[in-house]
Amino acid sequence: MNNKVSQLSKSPTNNTIWLSTCHSTNSFAQEWIKKNDFEDGWTVSTYEQTNGRGQMGNSWESEPNQNLTFSTVYTFPDLILSNLFFLNIAVSVGIIDYLKNIGFKAEIKWPNDIYLQTKKVAGILIEPHILESKINNVIVGIGLNVNQKKFLNTNAVSLFNISNVEYKIENELEKLLMFVKESLAKLKKGDFDSLKVSYYQKLYLMGKPAAFLSKGKIFMGIIKGVDETGKLIIETENDYQSFNIKEIEFMK
Ligand code: BTN
Repeated sequence: MNNKVSQLSKSPTNNTIWLSTCHSTNSFAQEWIKKNDFEDGWTVSTYEQTNGRGQMGNSWESEPNQNLTFSTVYTFPDLILSNLFFLNIAVSVGIIDYLKNIGFKAEIKWPNDIYLQTKKVAGILIEPHILESKINNVIVGIGLNVNQKKFLNTNAVSLFNISNVEYKIENELEKLLMFVKESLAKLKKGDFDSLKVSYYQKLYLMGKPAAFLSKGKIFMGIIKGVDETGKLIIETENDYQSFNIKEIEFMK
């Protein structure tokens, strides 16, 4: 295993382990579930992530002891591959519900960045393990900026930056896990419609005219939703177009 684990501690109330340091909790979880039995909701969290991975090969920066960086694992024996994007929907909705519960009105910037007042407060990296065209298990990696005061990345923000309140990260993890679990339970039950409604209610710029950049050109359009593969559907002057993550940028 590549991860440097200097200390393991187990929360007494649930199946969460805390590592004092770790390369990437998603990578740690990948290795762990190869060798160990685990229950739905098994979670690894670290106080210091040294090689945090983000979407599209990016890295995820987080100051030690300030934020939440963790991965939680679920099995989805009945989820078919064409519904894979619903994992992003369910996890995003779970995070937004948690933030609402603690007093923040956050939005989802498609596909699954969590924004507070125009800056990114949380990122999600979902890594499914597919076996015989079925989703065997899924590692849901979440980074939530909690107490960090300053960021090199000018697009990042923490809960502290907005509320001026210091949080106990262990407590916030337990709460956040509850909301994510509740939302994933809806997915397990096949409650796709209600999840999509919640996602759309929280989707940044949904239904509002906005400027986008694609293939070097800026154009105006209105977000209408996402298709079954997770592509963003935009109504443009003449028609509807769908875009994957590499094909489009938001201008604000
Ligand atoms: C993004 O690019 O927005 C996704 C960032 C996901 C970061 C989290 S932190 C915990 C987990 N372990 C990782 O290596 N990445 C995810």
